[in-house]
Amino acid sequence: MERKWWHDSVVYQIYPRSFKDSNGDGVGDLVGIIEKLDYLKELGIDVIWLSPIYDSPNDDNGYDIRDYEAIMEEFGTMNDFDRLLARAHEHGIKIVMDLVVNHSSDEHAWFVESRKGKDNPYRDYYIWRKGNPDGTLPNNWGSIFSGPAWEHDVESDEYYLHLFSKKQPDLNWENETMRRDVYAMMKRWLDRGIDGFRMDVINLISKADGLPDGKVGEGALYGDGGEHYVNGPRVHEYLREMHDASFGQYDVLTVGEMPGATTEDAILYTNPERKEVNMVFTFEHMDLDSGPGGKWDVVPFHLAKLKENFTKWQTALHGKGWNSLYWNNHDQPRVVSRFGDDSVYRVESAKMLATLLHMLQGTPYIYQGEELGMTNVSFESIEDYEDIEIRNMWRERTALGASPAELLRSVHIKGRDNARTPMQWSAEENAGFTTGKPWLKVNPNYPEINAEAVLKDPNSIFYYYKQLIALRHQHDLMVYGDYTLLHKNHETVYAYSRHHEGETWYIYCSFDKQETKVALDHDTSDIVIGNYADRPHAGQELTLRPYEAVVYRTKA
Ligand code: NOJ
Repeated sequence: MERKWWHDSVVYQIYPRSFKDSNGDGVGDLVGIIEKLDYLKELGIDVIWLSPIYDSPNDDNGYDIRDYEAIMEEFGTMNDFDRLLARAHEHGIKIVMDLVVNHSSDEHAWFVESRKGKDNPYRDYYIWRKGNPDGTLPNNWGSIFSGPAWEHDVESDEYYLHLFSKKQPDLNWENETMRRDVYAMMKRWLDRGIDGFRMDVINLISKADGLPDGKVGEGALYGDGGEHYVNGPRVHEYLREMHDASFGQYDVLTVGEMPGATTEDAILYTNPERKEVNMVFTFEHMDLDSGPGGKWDVVPFHLAKLKENFTKWQTALHGKGWNSLYWNNHDQPRVVSRFGDDSVYRVESAKMLATLLHMLQGTPYIYQGEELGMTNVSFESIEDYEDIEIRNMWRERTALGASPAELLRSVHIKGRDNARTPMQWSAEENAGFTTGKPWLKVNPNYPEINAEAVLKDPNSIFYYYKQLIALRHQHDLMVYGDYTLLHKNHETVYAYSRHHEGETWYIYCSFDKQETKVALDHDTSDIVIGNYADRPHAGQELTLRPYEAVVYRTKA
């Protein structure tokens, strides 16, 4: 496989709103990020992915873009952005921008025009349909943020499609002029010097002809519709066209956020010969604790399913495409609370999960605060939550008579605001995030869990991540080695090996709160990394302590 700079890179995701506020308005900003570049340099990451920083009315915190080529006022100015980019580059850190082009804001100039009437040249930039003669909506699709996916426009008596909030109308990718405008916008950012794009729900951009009704699941209010727009009919054609017209001429990183993409799809999207994107974000491992009722239907997580899933992705894409590896992002609960233990074994389990992920093949993504072992939060009142997904779900389900206590419980476990509480910089008021009132409450555990504390502790989660990142830079085995699952049926240990050019690494990760044993058949003298201060007992069997992770290296 031809080497690429992003093969051995580690990406750090910043959610700017919650990262660092430099001017006391309670909202993170670009100058705040500049202030923390030294911190990121210390961690050793190679790339920053910035969640959207563009001008936006913030219905969905910047994922509703009003102007793709202006900076959100609360975050600063274009001058601040240019400074951030230059400083990051001086630090040897690249910057990847979020690209949100499945939809725009309803306040984007294109939509403002589009709404003016059926003859407007921008009308067809969005997806407009008449209602049915019986007064029903153009089809039965539900919005991913609750309610129907259609909004009525009184003036024209037509409806526009919005897969997300009604302030996020879907762009019409069938329209070639619209597509060319998007590519030209991307090129202008690339010419400004950015290093790539993370593409928001990019596998939803092509909708099936005729927008047919979706299947209605048991107890569901709306048709799913996903079968008509997830990996839709023209998506590969669009991505290839986008590649050729924009980033294909630059040596940049492209990652498509792709809910519903299978390994077969991912090979098509990421096979370098097809010239689409470098890698995709799969959601399959993020769905392992969801029941048939979807995200809010929380079910216990089983390690066997995680093994099966990671093994499938590792094997299927090896030599054919490229994986991205992540536990967290701004849409997911904190991994230490989700798959680890956020009380007694918080530090051990955070390091174990890091080991498991970073030893795999692919490009790892770290989400801000993951390197501190930040945890979920349980606000007592729904009023303390800001996320539109949470608020809409709450409104819809309480109106239908759902129990508020139960809904709140699932928000505590799955809500996106778990990831969005401000970054915990220190034990000072508001976790040192702001001198003002934070836009979202800080997690009350900040006096214990914060950056200042981890930087002082040589055994901290932070320095463990630093080691894992450095290892990836040093060892081709981590980057290119092949993967074999070991001890498939062990209930609480995830073990696998990586092999490359005469060397094998054995990775053992325990999800057990108790001590547990696993059979051994290789040399254990050479330890690459482990999350306990001393080595585990290794005889005929390996004895792993609670949430222990250890990696052995052998020549063979
Ligand atoms: C995925 C983004 O990660 C999420 O935050 C956003 O709400 C939706 N796409 C819509 O843009």
